[in-house]
Amino acid sequence: MPRLPQPQQPRPAGTVVVQHSSRTRVPHHWHPDIQSILIPTTTLKLRVKSLAQSLQHHYEDKNPVLISVLNGTVVFTADLIRSLNFPLTLDFIGTSSYRNQTRPGPLHFTKKLSTNIQNRHVLLIDDILDTGQTLHAILTQLHTLKPRSLRTCVLLQKRVPRTHAIRPHYTGFNIPNAFVVGYGLDYAEQYRNLPFIGVLRTPPP
Ligand code: IMP
Ligand code: MG
Repeated sequence: MPRLPQPQQPRPAGTVVVQHSSRTRVPHHWHPDIQSILIPTTTLKLRVKSLAQSLQHHYEDKNPVLISVLNGTVVFTADLIRSLNFPLTLDFIGTSSYRNQTRPGPLHFTKKLSTNIQNRHVLLIDDILDTGQTLHAILTQLHTLKPRSLRTCVLLQKRVPRTHAIRPHYTGFNIPNAFVVGYGLDYAEQYRNLPFIGVLRTPPP
């Protein structure tokens, strides 16, 4: 039977949508914990380079402050900034909402900014947009510091209803609603060192 064309969902220009696929094998060592590879290393590398090109275009003459959200965003940030060929300041902000579980809890600030961002162009970088609670809380905080401009860049955006309506300026991948780990993202502080994004087998309640 011929395959009918699938209806296209509207999505922001430049975002990449990934679906579960069994084409890439989970390395033997991670089999018990990781159900499947959602985004392989090579795909991550290519997408990070293309995000960097968009950032280069917008920020090359602005000497921005890049604020990376600890801890999940460090791997993405480290790869991203090495493809940016312009002056910038890098700072980190610490938040914590997931404590040995996959459901969100109250948000704490665990590290404050070290840079004065008043009148500076600011790019907030986060690993994953889920409910939007984290980004909303950080953006609210950053606005009070009077940056000249404030944009957001997330590596992953889950297709879920958000408690806070946030549309990042730059998104790496739109992903299904699964709990993912690797490339900086953790479950109970594990799996940050996986070089790919994988779907965690359902954790115990
Ligand atoms: P939000 O506040 O619900 O948008 O959640 C954002 C934060 O929760 C992210 O910055 C991550 O630290 C964490 N998070 C949300 N979903 C996942 C996931 O699938 N894997 C790992 N961490 C996640
Ligand atoms: Mg995070």
